[in-house]
Amino acid sequence: MAIRTVRVIGDEILTKPCKPINFMTPRISNLIGDLFETMYENNGVGLAAPQVGILKQVVAIDVDDGNQYVLINPEILETSGSQTGQEGCLSVPGKCGVVTRPEWVKVKAFDENMEEFILEGEGLLARAICHEVDHLKGQMYVSLVEGELMDATEEEEEE
Ligand code: NI
Repeated sequence: MAIRTVRVIGDEILTKPCKPINFMTPRISNLIGDLFETMYENNGVGLAAPQVGILKQVVAIDVDDGNQYVLINPEILETSGSQTGQEGCLSVPGKCGVVTRPEWVKVKAFDENMEEFILEGEGLLARAICHEVDHLKGQMYVSLVEGELMDATEEEEEE
């Protein structure tokens, strides 16, 4: 595994839609390991492949609930409620902003073995899922920020 360079806002790759993954390869398996390693190195709670320059539909999430989630070709099936709170992104270093997201989401995805699964998440996990799924569509949270982008403090969660 290796730590990869995180692309930052202004890099065109972050605005492009990602391609679905049809089958697991050593290259993608390696990418998944690197997503986690790069995310932990940067104290993030989620990281999407385009953030390391790969236009494939895979994200890594760890919101410190004891699980590492790999979501391949994720598709949000259902949402409910709403939460308004601060959000950050490793591709927008040092900044954060207020974003409203669903409080609960149900997502269908494939795991690292290409087994389909359903994940239901609430709170921070729901926020992270929405944020990362947006990355795969070439969308950044900055377009959803209510008010101004602010300078982040050390403790901010970044995706
Ligand atoms: Ni992000």
